[in-house]
Amino acid sequence: MSFDLVLFGGTGDLAWRKLMPALFQAFRHGTLPPGGRIIGIGRDDLSADQYRALIHSRFDKVELAKRPSDDEFAHFAALLDFVRMDLSRPDDYQRLAQTLQARKADTVVMYVATAPTLFTTVCEQIAAVGLNTPQTRVVLEKPLGHDLASNRAINSTVCTIFQEKQVFRIDHYLGKPAVQNLFALRFGNALFEPLWRREHIANIQITIAEELGVEKRGAFYETTGALRDMVQNHALQLLCAIGMEPPINSHADAIRDEKLKVLRSLKPWTPATLATDAIRGQYGAGNMAGTPVVAYRSEAGVDPHSNTETFVALRTEISNWRWAGVPFYIRTGKRLAGRDARIVVNFRPTPHAIFNSSIGDANRLVINLQPRDGLELHLLAQGQDNRRNAHALAPVQLDLDFDKRFGSERVGAYERLLLDVIAGRLNLFVRSDEQEEAWRWVEPILDAWSNDPQGPRPYAPGTWGPSASSAMIARDGFCWAEEN
Ligand code: BG6
Repeated sequence: MSFDLVLFGGTGDLAWRKLMPALFQAFRHGTLPPGGRIIGIGRDDLSADQYRALIHSRFDKVELAKRPSDDEFAHFAALLDFVRMDLSRPDDYQRLAQTLQARKADTVVMYVATAPTLFTTVCEQIAAVGLNTPQTRVVLEKPLGHDLASNRAINSTVCTIFQEKQVFRIDHYLGKPAVQNLFALRFGNALFEPLWRREHIANIQITIAEELGVEKRGAFYETTGALRDMVQNHALQLLCAIGMEPPINSHADAIRDEKLKVLRSLKPWTPATLATDAIRGQYGAGNMAGTPVVAYRSEAGVDPHSNTETFVALRTEISNWRWAGVPFYIRTGKRLAGRDARIVVNFRPTPHAIFNSSIGDANRLVINLQPRDGLELHLLAQGQDNRRNAHALAPVQLDLDFDKRFGSERVGAYERLLLDVIAGRLNLFVRSDEQEEAWRWVEPILDAWSNDPQGPRPYAPGTWGPSASSAMIARDGFCWAEEN
């Protein structure tokens, strides 16, 4: 099956940081279908050879194991081409159409990795030159809009040009092996299903913590913030994966229907819950592992009086029979204590304690997404020192490290998702109604924060965010996993 992958934003940050390395890995693993062509689109006046050289030079920044040798790159580079385009000029799309029509690939993937303001223009112009054929698939990067209205505007234009089955909305968290494993854990094993409900689960905690600050993306982040950047998409998708009902089969719409139901069941915000259950923070200046780091407000491209949040902690509930009353806590932020993405499922304590021992952090399932991918089952067991105290129980951990089990050379998120687009598999992509529902749910928080002159709470780099996040969860009688 031949394919053309057109990369709008072909010289941009995402292209060289994520997409080209992912395409190269697929090429190296032999999973990229043969007969492919990757056409970078950019404003620069580059020949195809100059574009290849540019991409080659960027691989210097990729981790060593994922860098191509010169020989490997020479083979990969044979797939690369470049078309210079100003995306606002209709004539330039004609040139693209000529390039594509000269070959007539079986599948044409239009990957729109540009500023979101250009999404509708690009789709309209693709249609204007007749490139919205049934063979075409369009990939849209996040953020898809800035709020519910702008998201709807983009989706309504895109959906008049393409059928929903041609639209691949990327959330790269869905491509992470750990998320696939979560689906396998829940829907491939009968073991946990009877326990997966309010009667047995006390609370669920979703953490996506990063050590990095905003790096060179200050200007983008200023108008985005952690709620739009991480919660509206990645964190809510994780919440769906953990909270959804078993789908009737593994088809894309069966899965997406169930995720949609979770989003629709999220407890609506009220002024009272907005005040107590939605915490925002912003990192100040300090140290990360002994290295001084600047405050968010001193980052390049950031307003020195900025109220943009770099940390969010939320408490919500899924209002249905399975989950009513079980708190779901979501927490994400930059410049936190570690790079750590995980979901912690805390089971209810035993109904009656017969052992004279605190259970510590037992009775818990941890789904690790980053930096390791794996599962930990925390159980209570008889400790080593049982001569002095026969009841000396201690928490122990059953570890299933998927990187060790399956090797660390596993298919990365973008590699997996790009291969899925080329093959036309929609399971790991977000449908427009899911996306709208997620925006609908976060919008009251956005509104409340934009009308609140108090701004985000400061926190020191290298911590777990403002103390209000711990206070929020403590009100329910719980604590974050690391506070045990
Ligand atoms: C992106 C956000 O979607 O996800 C970034 O825009 C964030 O701000 C990144 O750093 C985190 O992804 P990962 O895969 O490194 O956890």
